[in-house]
Amino acid sequence: MKIAIVGLGYVGLPLSLQFARSGVTVLGLDIDPAKIVSLNAGKSYIKHIESAALVEQVKAGKFSASADFSRVQEVEAVIICVPTPLNKNREPDISFITETGKSLAPHLQKGTLVVLESTTYPGTTDEDLRCVLEAGSGLKAGADFHLAFSPEREDPAHPASKVANIPKVVGGFTPACLARATALYGRAIKTIVPVSSCRVAEATKLLENIFRSVNIALVNELKVVYAAMGIDVWEVIAAAKTKPFGFMAFYPGPGLGGHCIPIDPFYLTWKAREFSQNTRFIELAGEINTAMPMHVVNRAAEALNARKKAVNGSRVLILGLAYKPNVDDERESPSYVLMNLLKERGADVAYFDPYVPVIRPTREHPQFAGLRSVNWDHSTVAGFDAVIIATNHQSVNYQQLADWSPCIVDARNAMAQVKTKPAQVWKA
Ligand SMILES: NC(=O)c1ccc[n+]([C@@H]2O[C@H](COP(=O)([O-])OP(=O)(O)OC[C@H]3O[C@@H](n4cnc5c(N)ncnc54)[C@H](O)[C@@H]3O)[C@@H](O)[C@H]2O)c1
Repeated sequence: MKIAIVGLGYVGLPLSLQFARSGVTVLGLDIDPAKIVSLNAGKSYIKHIESAALVEQVKAGKFSASADFSRVQEVEAVIICVPTPLNKNREPDISFITETGKSLAPHLQKGTLVVLESTTYPGTTDEDLRCVLEAGSGLKAGADFHLAFSPEREDPAHPASKVANIPKVVGGFTPACLARATALYGRAIKTIVPVSSCRVAEATKLLENIFRSVNIALVNELKVVYAAMGIDVWEVIAAAKTKPFGFMAFYPGPGLGGHCIPIDPFYLTWKAREFSQNTRFIELAGEINTAMPMHVVNRAAEALNARKKAVNGSRVLILGLAYKPNVDDERESPSYVLMNLLKERGADVAYFDPYVPVIRPTREHPQFAGLRSVNWDHSTVAGFDAVIIATNHQSVNYQQLADWSPCIVDARNAMAQVKTKPAQVWKA
């Protein structure tokens, strides 16, 4: 069996490797020529995906990458894993999906299965993508080609996040589409969870991400409320977590980051308006979570003030640029917001992140492109008036931080087990 996977990013690349390991020949399609060259040379550009795993499949002839979309004629199935961001008005931007559809459509053969994996609002697969594919190919979904949606559930760098072991929800445009998609994923993934439609599958992924966003907002709110009462929310969560049922621990932080949780819920908000529905939980969670970087900056100002220093003119180090521990993914990271807020207040800001040595040019934060992580040594770290822990990478030596920095603002409870001096650490 030969399939194509479109979009060789955090989702498409590990999925490609899992299919390749399962004996399926995978043609990876992407529009980024640099990625194609690197992947064909067996070089992974994602920290937690080892090049060795890629080399093995490239050498075995099970994986190759290309930018030539006409080659979908060679495959039985196409899986689409392209980005689904928000535009500058915070509305869904499904142009990556529709552009992919336009590139595929002229080459689509009768009998091909097309599956969308990108997180999106209900209706994207059976309305938007279907229309583009039908218009460009002259074929009919359900009759001439099969169409399905199956959400990606990857949690990069999470030990339990192994593509093969994560149950795969699948919804088809018709029962025959569902049967084809179930058979396809069954080759590479242990548990398949069929649902009645593409829309149910799309809505399932949104529920999962909204659930996280709302619960993170809840603990972020409680962090602020409990702190005012002199209660440490981290201790409270650790205690609540001992309940064997009916509680699931979520942790506060400096704000939401990454490609999913800050973005996906608003796909539903936008779509809900078409049905005269409001998504108040989503909006409220968004409001609370986006207020967190300012909360952290205010705590940093308090901490500096206690040392008779103003934010204006202070040297502040952001520890961790990635949006979560132990990954190199800094998309939508709240660290960028912290750096902006601090700069606006006149601070001299730098960052340290062992996994992000230099900031790549991005659409969202062009002003930081080219900025390099500072070195991790005594004189560098001690040269900052305050260090804000935005991401708790495990590889950072927090005891060294305590030994070197006079003032630490901790948004991740990273200093909990570390020997510190009185009034040195400010939880934020
Ligand atoms: N990263 C995650 O942990 C995660 C988890 C679950 C779901 N998702 C969802 O999966 C989807 C993909 O996310 P990702 O993190 O893999 O994104 P990514 O940015 O890492 O990768 C997307 C890839 O698609 C390529 N691409 C863009 N437009 C293209 C086009 N028209 N044709 C072919 N290739 C194109 C890009 O060059 C890139 O290599 C998104 O909808 C995201 O919300 C991501």
